[in-house]
Amino acid sequence: MPTLHFIHPSGQTTSLDVDVGKNLMNICRDHGFTEVVAECGGSALCATCHVYIDEAQVDLFALPNEVENQMLEFVASERRPTSRLSCQLTINEQCNNLKVYFPLQQI
Ligand code: FES
Repeated sequence: MPTLHFIHPSGQTTSLDVDVGKNLMNICRDHGFTEVVAECGGSALCATCHVYIDEAQVDLFALPNEVENQMLEFVASERRPTSRLSCQLTINEQCNNLKVYFPLQQI
């Protein structure tokens, strides 16, 4: 069971053990992380589930598809090379100690 580390804008870190196969946006919502708004519920239509993946770990996930890449143009906080829509990410076995940074704002 991978352990994920969520870094809040305050600098505080929350660590969770999560199941492989879980959707990252759903993990955030299930644990009440208000930094992830996810207005569209995971349909890649709102860009309010934006997160930054630790730059050393971005390769743990497939590259954004065209839809995600287009939606990342609409994130409220700065888009970086490590920006992803959390609704498009599925936790895999390699994700142990994954660091996920929340942006300052989603709207
Ligand atoms: S929840 Fe809307 S784009 Fe991810």
